[in-house]
Amino acid sequence: MNRVKGKVCIVTGAAVGIGEACVHRLAQEGATVALFDVLDEEGAALANALRGKGAQAHYWHVDVATEATVSDAIDGVAGRFGAVHVLVNNAGIAGVTKPTHEVTEAEWDRVQAVNVKGVFFCTKHAIAHLRRSGGGSIINLSSIYGLVGAADVPPYHASKGAVRLMSKTDAMFYAKDGIRVNSIHPGFIWTPMVERHLRDSGATDIEQARREVGLMHPLGHMGDPDDIAWGVVYLACDESRFVTGSELVIDGGYTAH
Ligand code: NAI
Repeated sequence: MNRVKGKVCIVTGAAVGIGEACVHRLAQEGATVALFDVLDEEGAALANALRGKGAQAHYWHVDVATEATVSDAIDGVAGRFGAVHVLVNNAGIAGVTKPTHEVTEAEWDRVQAVNVKGVFFCTKHAIAHLRRSGGGSIINLSSIYGLVGAADVPPYHASKGAVRLMSKTDAMFYAKDGIRVNSIHPGFIWTPMVERHLRDSGATDIEQARREVGLMHPLGHMGDPDDIAWGVVYLACDESRFVTGSELVIDGGYTAH
């Protein structure tokens, strides 16, 4: 309890999946949570449910790929809650499943706009607020596919590789401000994104596909959103005060091969 008490945490892509789990665990550990997403119904309902449990929470409609919206919303968080201490850059899309030579420019650009430019915009507009707070933590959701490749979603792999190095670059820039920047590298986590990806890849028996993909991990199954959310809580709180520029791999052993 109270590992992030008093901290104002922004989570992008907060409405479902990993983002939703992050919001629950951060709130449970005492944070004030700002939910950014484009799924207004789910996001607002989640913020409402958290307030019902006594947490401070508010939902903002934010497409992370639109700079002005990002900037206004982050200013709005600081205005409403008085400060910003933690930014979880979680919003992401998988994009198309096809070989590189079949990917269109528009398909490529959309994935980079959300997964890469979204992290850039949110980081860019959070920095002044984090400095005013005397420091803070930025947590970027990369992937096992920011560390190793796979023959399935080329724009996604490129985007997650970019996020890995953006994290290290920003860790270097902002260390002097007490702002830590780290990346998290999940293996397959059972969320709406992965279910969609399996269907797009042609799976008809979704439970069987889930088991098969799970077996790619030495621990023998996919992870749950909470497996990532607890990593986010660790990087958000002061237990990780000496951790920056690092890669937190939470993947059931996938990349240990
Ligand atoms: P998800 O698709 O289940 O949820 C993503 C959330 O982001 C949704 O609420 C969606 O509405 C929101 N979102 C999408 N585009 C947005 C935009 N332009 N602006 C604001 N919000 C937007 O995805 P999941 O699985 O929860 O993934 C979260 C993050 O973790 C992503 O960055 C993903 O790449 C990463 N990740 C997920 C893995 C998995 O196996 N689920 C594995 C490795 C990384």
